Amino acid sequence: MQGALREPAPVDGVQIARAVDALLQGGLVAFPTETVYGLGADAAQADAVARIFDVKGRPRGHPLIVHVAGIAAAQVWARDVPPHARVLMERFWPGPLTLILPRSARASDAVTGGQDSVGLRVPANPWALALIHGLCAGRNDPAAAIAAPSANRFGRISPTRAAHVRADLGEKPQGAVDVILDGGASIVGIESTIVDCTGGALRVLRPGFIRPDEIAAAVASTGVAVTVASDDEEAPRASGRLKGHYAPRKPLELVAPADLGPRIAALRPARLAVLAPEAAMAGSVRAPDLALCLPAPDDADAYARTLYDHLRAMDASGADRLLVAVPPAGAQWDAIHDRLRRAQAGSDAGAD
Ligand code: TXA
Ligand code: MG
Repeated sequence: MQGALREPAPVDGVQIARAVDALLQGGLVAFPTETVYGLGADAAQADAVARIFDVKGRPRGHPLIVHVAGIAAAQVWARDVPPHARVLMERFWPGPLTLILPRSARASDAVTGGQDSVGLRVPANPWALALIHGLCAGRNDPAAAIAAPSANRFGRISPTRAAHVRADLGEKPQGAVDVILDGGASIVGIESTIVDCTGGALRVLRPGFIRPDEIAAAVASTGVAVTVASDDEEAPRASGRLKGHYAPRKPLELVAPADLGPRIAALRPARLAVLAPEAAMAGSVRAPDLALCLPAPDDADAYARTLYDHLRAMDASGADRLLVAVPPAGAQWDAIHDRLRRAQAGSDAGAD
């Protein structure tokens, strides 16, 4: 993981202790993970978990990911863990991979949305792990866990910085979250890969930093097949799979790099914010009347790490419309294409 070379901010023990107290008292804590910031509650407290849905404006019944300290804790929340799922845990945890497994009696309906499965992940971020370990100590239970979706309002852009959470949800007493931990920018920048392990084959429900070919390679010796769920396929309720998701408020349009100049000319005098590689921004594209012009990284990891920050900056720029140059093709760009397609569908342009 190239992004892992960038160290997150050092963990502040005083802030962690404050956050653990808030969790123990049934409060909500926003915390950094390597993917995006999560909005967490003690997964054992149904009332606290219910508050997550209120604060996000998320429909009840959408299942939450349960963040655990390690494989042993995951085994407590799941039952009948198949050998290939165990292989994935050992290969990719801690890391940006969520496994959907048959749930144990531990996983309440509040967390699973009433489904017979539970989503589990061990995050690779020292703040997130310190928070989980603190909760385990406070509850005197090594399998204590944090239920958390991304810490954004339902359908909107996921946060990759504490400032994003402060802007969207706010901290008490003015805002809705008891404690917002600031561990710096998330190093992966897009949500975890979700793999459904409840069927005969493994099924990738949401693409992410860990690619299907890496998952297939990891489980090759077990003989299990790996499939990728298509957009139209009926999947368990997974809000990340809704067509309009991760969306800015302004209309967002994906444009082939070669069409960028003509498209900008055609849209004038609208005020535009553009995210495009330097090479596509020559001449007429980089015009003085653009509200914002951001260079798109040509490395997929760097693109993912900065994507949500860029979309937020474009949304806040005063532009009427957002234009994003279609990124390159290739497996390492698939998750980015997925998020951009959904951002386009969920923005005002896609909605009408
Ligand atoms: O990277 C991430 O996964 C971040 C960080 C905070 O861990 N979390 C995140 O959570 O993206 P959320 O709730 O925004 O997206 C989690 C997705 C949702 O689409 C949810 O429906 C799906 O995981 N999910 C959770 N449990 C599931 C289950 N039992 N079956 C199917 N989908 C499930
Ligand atoms: Mg989300």
